[in-house]
Amino acid sequence: MSAEYQVNGSVAVITLANPPVNGLGLATRTAAVAGIKQALADDAIKAIVITGAGKAFSGGADIKEFNSPKALTEPTLHTLINVVEQSTKPVVAAIHSVCMGGGLELALGCNYRVAAPGAQMALPEVKLGILPGAGGTQRLPRVLGLEMALNMIVSGTPVASEKLAGTALFDEVTAPGADLLAAAVAFAGKVAGIRPLPKVRERTVDYPDHEAFLQFSRNTVKAMAGPFPAPLQCVEAVAAAVTMKFDDGLKFERELFMQLVQSPVSKALRHAFFAERVASKVPDVPADTPVRAIASAAIVGAGTMGGGIAMNFANAGIPVKLLETQQAALDKGLATIRKNYESTVKKGKLTQEKAEQRIALVSGTLDYADIAQADIVVEAVFEEMGVKEAVFRQLDAVMKPGAILASNTSTLDLDQIASFTKRPQDVIGTHFFSPANVMKLLEIVRGKETGKDVLASALALSKKLKKTGVVSGVCDGFIGNRMIEQYSRQAGFLLEEGCLPEQVDKAVEQFGFAMGPFRMGDLAGNDIGWAIRKRRYVQKPDVTYSKTADLLCELGRYGQKTGAGWYDYKPGDRKAYPSEQVNAMLVQHSQDIGVERRKIGDQEIVERLVYALVNEGARILEEGIALRASDIDMVYLTGYGFPLFRGGPMFYADTVGLPNVQDAIAGYASGRHGEAWTPAPLLVKLAAEGKGFNN
Ligand code: 3HC
Ligand code: NAI
Repeated sequence: MSAEYQVNGSVAVITLANPPVNGLGLATRTAAVAGIKQALADDAIKAIVITGAGKAFSGGADIKEFNSPKALTEPTLHTLINVVEQSTKPVVAAIHSVCMGGGLELALGCNYRVAAPGAQMALPEVKLGILPGAGGTQRLPRVLGLEMALNMIVSGTPVASEKLAGTALFDEVTAPGADLLAAAVAFAGKVAGIRPLPKVRERTVDYPDHEAFLQFSRNTVKAMAGPFPAPLQCVEAVAAAVTMKFDDGLKFERELFMQLVQSPVSKALRHAFFAERVASKVPDVPADTPVRAIASAAIVGAGTMGGGIAMNFANAGIPVKLLETQQAALDKGLATIRKNYESTVKKGKLTQEKAEQRIALVSGTLDYADIAQADIVVEAVFEEMGVKEAVFRQLDAVMKPGAILASNTSTLDLDQIASFTKRPQDVIGTHFFSPANVMKLLEIVRGKETGKDVLASALALSKKLKKTGVVSGVCDGFIGNRMIEQYSRQAGFLLEEGCLPEQVDKAVEQFGFAMGPFRMGDLAGNDIGWAIRKRRYVQKPDVTYSKTADLLCELGRYGQKTGAGWYDYKPGDRKAYPSEQVNAMLVQHSQDIGVERRKIGDQEIVERLVYALVNEGARILEEGIALRASDIDMVYLTGYGFPLFRGGPMFYADTVGLPNVQDAIAGYASGRHGEAWTPAPLLVKLAAEGKGFNN
């Protein structure tokens, strides 16, 4: 049973009990319908209360059931809500906490709603690429009015129950600390004899000149929705609440819901929802693995990354000390942090008071003795093994026993770094992305000796810092940078073969990337990749690269920071202008290496860049560097601007079909630089088996 039935005097209490969030899956729906029928059959019962066990009233329809026959098996969510609405005895929803999606739709089918303050009310379906499909778009406007309901449905943002007190959504919002269930049972007793039973469906939506408002909403939402179809469909469904009879509106909502739920965008968003949650699960590290408390932190190196990482700790209320070798570098790092907070205040995203509190949590030092008692230390010094060695030997000497020793290295061998200490079990990689105070991704690098409790602690820390933590094994570049290298190589080859930077960027941005590779290079600094390639030319002489990026750097065009990169920039303006100098250099280079430039279509550009990611992702998966394909997708969605509506590179490959990806790769393998296109064995195997990476 996933709903319990109890009797409290003359009131039946049905408790949804499907942990963790009482998703309204088939078993829960069946048990809830049975509960209503039992109450109706019992003459001693005069009213019914529906509530939820644990941390939620209900998080909504069970998303795992979508696209499976279960979602359509009776009793469906529609049937459950119908049974509730048709009840001849009053039904009261007792909402103590999360009440979302189908959960709120169920509550709207009840005759009355009693809520505790702080309950999170939302119709968040739009975030999954769908719309409320069980009457939410028809009933919410009838209790909250057109404008407020439309805002909630189009944004999916939760609203606290106390903010909705006084609307027709609630009959009562209890006082803080009151016993909600007792209040709901008392309320049910009070209204038990009232007839006719109030029903949301019988209310009307009154809004003067609703057509003008709806048209304004359509225009605004259309401009903001980009490739996501659901927001605009939400507006259409809500419009039906005003323009159609209730049952017709319900039918219209259902039609739109069925279209959206089958759409590739919704499938991608649902994939991302589960991918984000599963990423924190590591098969051999059980959920109850004890974690080390992190109440204080230290950062070694106050440069670009160190400062941003420190801000993450301060934002989470954790005091953090920055260590540098020189006072000037330390002062510069601390000043940058202050400047960043001040600009956030100027943008109105943080109050001055909060900014000051956070700044006060950050301090600096030149002395290792001052950081010895920190619970975690994150090293963010230069990307050179020699420098890392000196730092880790020092950390090993001074840090208290049990401190977590983390490295922000983006490419270096974490196991080698751990070997510089006598406590490799305490060493882990925490690879933040730039700007570290903004980017959601935290790649957590598990060394061969990293302790399970240290890994569990880093995953818990990622949540505390509001990051998406994804675990990677040790390899050059870990998941994200190892893959991006193949993408960048292809971008370089495209330039040699006939593309200009703006053409490549435009094609990839039209595919949905936040930024193409060349605009990205100019933003991050082209000298970073140059330094990495110089190392690779020595360490991996057989890997081929286009020389174009080196030639660019030899011209001193490092990117926005030097006022020129792949593009030209005007002072104080981040807009990229095509550069005659660069374009001439590219044409000359093709001539120098004897390549006849050709017209390259957008499809080839996108395929070569994206399939390069996919092919390397397949190797990473096969080698066990990533635990699952969806982890790779999370890395790309949260760290590299891969379009969310495509679900990540591995999910995208699944939607294209792996045999199609394999065929395209085979085509490129027979072309120039075919050596970069050896298909990953896992890709070949899954394609032959008719499977995808994610299933
Ligand atoms: N269906 C199935 N599983 C769900 C779920 C749902 N609606 N909502 C949450 N879960 C699962 C998560 O996958 C996770 O599972 P795991 O433990 O195996 O990883 C677990 O519940 C806990 O989720 P969170 O880690 O997100 O827990 P939080 O406490 O941080 O957040 C929440 C709880 C606010 C409910 C959040 O999970 C959430 O936003 N869920 C989605 C809510 C939603 O979109 N509801 C609409 C569903 S669609 C619908 O109702 C259609 C209808 O209109 C027809
Ligand atoms: P940076 O050059 O901006 O900062 C490094 C800082 O470390 C400097 O302030 C320097 O004075 C200090 N430092 C050097 N040696 C030190 C020592 N022995 N003790 C104390 N401080 C010392 O470098 P950045 O970009 O912040 O990179 C740091 C690390 O983060 C590197 O490992 C890099 O690979 C990694 N990383 C960088 C990203 C980026 O986009 N810049 C992204 C993700 C990771």
